[in-house]
Amino acid sequence: MLWWAPFLLFQLQQPLDIPDKNPHTTAADIEQGKRLFMGRCASCHGPAGDGGKGANLAVPKLSRASEDRSLYRIIRFGVPDTEMPGSLMDTNELWQTAAFVRTLGRVAASPITGNAANGQQVFKTKGNCLNCHALGTEGGRMGPSLSGIGARRGAAHLKAKIENPASDVPPNFRLVQLTTKAGKSLRGIRLNEDTFSIQLLDLSGNPQSVWKDDIAQMTSEKKTTMPPSKGRLTDSELNDLVAFLAAEKGAQ
Ligand code: HEC
Ligand code: HEC
Repeated sequence: MLWWAPFLLFQLQQPLDIPDKNPHTTAADIEQGKRLFMGRCASCHGPAGDGGKGANLAVPKLSRASEDRSLYRIIRFGVPDTEMPGSLMDTNELWQTAAFVRTLGRVAASPITGNAANGQQVFKTKGNCLNCHALGTEGGRMGPSLSGIGARRGAAHLKAKIENPASDVPPNFRLVQLTTKAGKSLRGIRLNEDTFSIQLLDLSGNPQSVWKDDIAQMTSEKKTTMPPSKGRLTDSELNDLVAFLAAEKGAQ
C-alpha cells in the first residue's frame, strides 16, 4: 500500500461536495473535455476510448462509474493499486472530461471477431496460460491474476500483449536479479515490495522474502517471463483467446 492510500480511502468515503449530476454537459463542455481526454487519457484508453492499456470506456455502462459522481471520483482520484492515475485538473475540467467520457459509450467499439468458447479452450490447453495465471479459482501465480482482465484492458492491448509479451511490461511482476551482502544470488519475479523488504517468487516457484538492508546489488529487468504466443498459436486461436479474455469481466 502506498502511504497516501488511507487518505485516499478517507477522501473517497467523504460526501465531498460532488453533485449527483454532471453540471457541465453543454456542447462546449464536451468539446473541451475531448481536448483534455486526448491530452491526458487517450494514451491509455485510446483516442476513441475503446481501450488499450486502460479499460474500454466506449461501453454503454462503465462498471466502476455508472453514476456521474463515481465517474468524477475515478477521474479525480484514479483507481488505487492499478495503473489508472488520479488527475490534478480543476473541478470544471474534471466534469468536462467526464462529459466527454459519457459520449464515448454512444459510439460502437471495434468489433471483437473471435469465438470466446474456443478461446477458453486455447487458454486452458494449448496456450498453457493457467500454468502462470489464475482465473477464478484455478491457475498459477507466476503471473498476475487474469480475473476481470476484460474490464481492465482493451482487446487490442490484450492481443499485442499475448502476441509479444515484451510489448508492455509493468513494474509489478518484473524479473529481478539480486545479490545479498552474504553473496547469495537470487533471480525471480517481483511480487511485492515495501520500505524494508522485497518479496520474490524464485524461478522454481518458491516465495522468497529479502530484507533490503541485506541486499548488496539489485537489478530489475524490463523483461518478461511470459512466452510469446506469436508462432505458437494460429491467428484464429489468438483471436479466440482475445475474445475470451475481453469478455472476462470478473465477479461483479
Ligand atoms: C497510465 C494509463 C491510464 C491513464 C493515463 C488513464 N487511465 Fe483510466 N484506467 C486505466 C486502467 C489500467 C484502468 C482499469 C483500472 C482497473 O479497474 O483495474 C482505468 C480505468 C478507468 C475508468 C473506469 C472504467 C470502468 O469500466 O469503470 C475510467 C472511467 C477511466 N479510467 C477514465 C480515465 C480518464 C478520464 C483519464 C484521463 C483523465 C484516464 N482514465 C487516464 C489506465 C489509465
Ligand atoms: C511462464 C509464465 C507465463 C505463461 C505461460 C503465460 N504468462 Fe501471461 N504473464 C506472465 C507474467 C509474469 C506477466 C506479468 C509481467 C508482464 O506483463 O510481462 C504476464 C502478463 C500477462 C498479461 C497482462 C496482464 C495485465 O494485467 O495487463 C496478460 C493479458 C497475459 N499475461 C495473458 C496470458 C495468456 C493469455 C497466456 C496463455 C497464452 C499467458 N499469459 C501465458 C507469465 C506468463
